[in-house]
Amino acid sequence: MSSASPGGRPPLSPPSFADLWRDLEPLGRDPVTGGYRRYSWTPADAQCRAWFTRQAEKRGLTVHPDANGNLWAWWGPQEPGAVATGSHLDSVPDGGGFDGALGVVTALAAVDLLQENNFYPERPLVLVTFTEEEGARFGLPCLGSRLLTGVVDPNAARDLTDDAGVTLAQAMTSAGLDPAQIGPDPALVEGLSAFVELHVEQGRALEPMGSAVGIAEGIWPHGRWRLDFTGQADHAGTARLADRRDPMLAYAGTVLAARRAAAEHGALATFGKVIAEPGGSNAVCSAVRAWLDARAADEATLSETVTDVRSAAERCSAEQGVTLSVRQESRTPVVRFDEGLRDRIAGVLAAAGMPAPVLPTGAGHDAGVLAARLPTAMLFVRNPTGVSHSPAEHADLADCEAGVRALALVLRDLAGPK
Ligand code: GLV
Ligand code: MN
Ligand code: MN
Repeated sequence: MSSASPGGRPPLSPPSFADLWRDLEPLGRDPVTGGYRRYSWTPADAQCRAWFTRQAEKRGLTVHPDANGNLWAWWGPQEPGAVATGSHLDSVPDGGGFDGALGVVTALAAVDLLQENNFYPERPLVLVTFTEEEGARFGLPCLGSRLLTGVVDPNAARDLTDDAGVTLAQAMTSAGLDPAQIGPDPALVEGLSAFVELHVEQGRALEPMGSAVGIAEGIWPHGRWRLDFTGQADHAGTARLADRRDPMLAYAGTVLAARRAAAEHGALATFGKVIAEPGGSNAVCSAVRAWLDARAADEATLSETVTDVRSAAERCSAEQGVTLSVRQESRTPVVRFDEGLRDRIAGVLAAAGMPAPVLPTGAGHDAGVLAARLPTAMLFVRNPTGVSHSPAEHADLADCEAGVRALALVLRDLAGPK
């Protein structure tokens, strides 16, 4: 590479990050909560896709959507050996602005930095935004990367429904895509030599270490389970307590048991989504649908935790005369990122005076899905409070800009001359 900042020194400061951030920031943000509602295949999602396409084309990149709705912006020819970077633009309900978006904005700003330094990639560089990473609309996280790599059956994916009963196939059709085409794309995956995803830290490990940027070691195994408690709807003012079959009580007992199981096993178990049907404030509900999110450092602990929650749900349901059904919606195995790539990145950053600690995480990422198929790594940018999946999620501008420099150094190393 011909560069204004040769050797191990970081390239020049990235002037474009703040401008890009300001431009993307209003899209899909709820004016009341300040949180983001960028759900796949909605108008907010379409705005984000159009924004990414515009920004990529402004930089001379060529955007090719794949059949699964992931967007790929190529710098250089679409040839094998490409180095990929990016993340996602969808959000959880009332999510923070950084989760996913930081990796996409940083990738664009890193391209600016490299172009300013007169770098031209010897291997193609490709920026990607994955679809439905959060699974906030259709329930299955990392749907875009799972379809791409063939770890989810396209028939099952087409039939996934959102809370309004709209299928993925219908949503994609409304957005102008052909759902019949979704599925694995081995040529695209095999054409990638590495994937590096930069992400806001979801946790607070970097702050006490005094580091702006970290490197991922791996991802805890995790999954989602849907629990349906079905009882008997009745009048809140007349049904005797002894006569009730109240699914809310079975659910409440299960929530408390999940917390106990997580504490006993050193795991995490969360009920963050619940729907009471039909939802009248003066009625015993007929059904409660609830989603368990469970995560642990290893597979055995995760299984034991979920088994304990399930047993508690069965016991609580029997006590209330309620029927229970439990269905696993997703399970993601433990991920260990490629050690060679991780060490190489650590070396590049250390040589540039940006030593980056190595951290595990309990959060899921498209990088975790791709890690099963190609050398993959992640960079984390410090989150001073650690709060994520919340409008309070934050990273300081200076740290985001350090993330841009770190990513540019890594891409220059991976895509530049050997
Ligand atoms: C994604 O952010 C997840 O870990 O659920
Ligand atoms: Mn997330
Ligand atoms: Mn994310």
